[in-house]
Amino acid sequence: MKKDFISLNDLSSEEIHQWLDFARQIKQSPKDFKSTLEGKTLGMIFKKKSTRTRISFEVGITQLGGSGIFLGPDDLQLSRGETIADTAKVLSRYLDGIVIRTYSHKDVVEFAQHATIPVINGLTDFNHPCQALADMLTLQERFGNLKGLKLAYLGDGNNVAVSLLFACVKVGMNISLISPPGYTIDEEVQAMIQNEAEAKKLNITITSNIQQGLAGADAVYTDVWTSMGKEEEDAHRKQVFKNYAVTDQVMAAAKPSAVFMHCLPAHRGEEVSASVIDGAASIVFDQAENRLHLQKAVMLKLMR
Ligand code: CP
Ligand code: NVA
Repeated sequence: MKKDFISLNDLSSEEIHQWLDFARQIKQSPKDFKSTLEGKTLGMIFKKKSTRTRISFEVGITQLGGSGIFLGPDDLQLSRGETIADTAKVLSRYLDGIVIRTYSHKDVVEFAQHATIPVINGLTDFNHPCQALADMLTLQERFGNLKGLKLAYLGDGNNVAVSLLFACVKVGMNISLISPPGYTIDEEVQAMIQNEAEAKKLNITITSNIQQGLAGADAVYTDVWTSMGKEEEDAHRKQVFKNYAVTDQVMAAAKPSAVFMHCLPAHRGEEVSASVIDGAASIVFDQAENRLHLQKAVMLKLMR
C-alpha cells in the first residue's frame, strides 16, 4: 500500500522520530544514499511560488539518483478543466511520487485518494508538514532532546502554525500560539490534536498575550503576516499584526538561550526585525538547509 505525507497528524510519534533519525543519517553520510532512488521520477506540481520547497525537492531527488519534473501553474491540463482524479490516475502511470503545492488542502487529499503513488504536501492553505518536520530536525540538532522544550509561535494562525502545532505535540514539545484576536488557529484544528497533547501532558496555549505566550520559550518562531493567496489583505494585516513582530524586546521575554526561527521568506521590519533574524540567536538558514535532508528522508521512506 502506498503511503502519503499530507499532514503530520496522520503520522505516529514513532514514525516521526524514525523519519527524523533517518534524516540525520542522510545528512551525515549523503554519499551512502546517492543511488537509492535511481530510475525514479518525482513530479512537482506547484500552483504557488517557491524557493526552498521547489529547489530542495529537485536537488534532493537528484542527489538520490532520481529525477524531478517541475510542473508550474499552467503546465497541466488541470488548468483547462481536467479533473484532479483523472490527473492523479494518469500521473500515477508515469511517476513514482509527487509533491503538490497548492491552495486548497482538499485538492491534495482528493489527488492522493485517486493516485496510486505517494503524494507529498509541499504546502497548502491548511498546513506545511515538510517545513515543520525540518524544523523539528533543526531543533533536535540544537537542543538534543526535543521532549519538554517549548516553542512560541508569534503571528498569523496559518499553515505553518498548524503544522508546528501538530509537530510539537508529536515530538513531545509544548507550544504557545500567539496571534492577534481573530487570527488565532481554529478551535477545530486544536481539537484534532488535543487528546494526544493531554495524554502526553503537554501544554498548548492559544493566546493574544505576547508576554504570557513567550514565557519560558526555548524557540521563538514567526512567519509572514500575509501568506500566498491573501495578498489583497496585506494593508489591513500590516495594521492588525504591527504589535506582533519579533524584536529584540520580544526575544528578551523568552529564555535567554532561546533561538529564533522562521520558515522564510522573511520581511525584515515587518514580522521580524533585522537585528533578530540576522542576529546570533537566528537558526533560519539551518532550517532552510534541513528541508533538503528531511525531504530526502521522506522521499526514501515513501518511494523506495
Ligand atoms: N519555507 C518555504 O516553504 O519556502 P518556499 O515558499 O520558498 O518554498
Ligand atoms: N505562510 C506562508 C508560508 C510560506 C512558506 C505562505 O503560505 O505563504
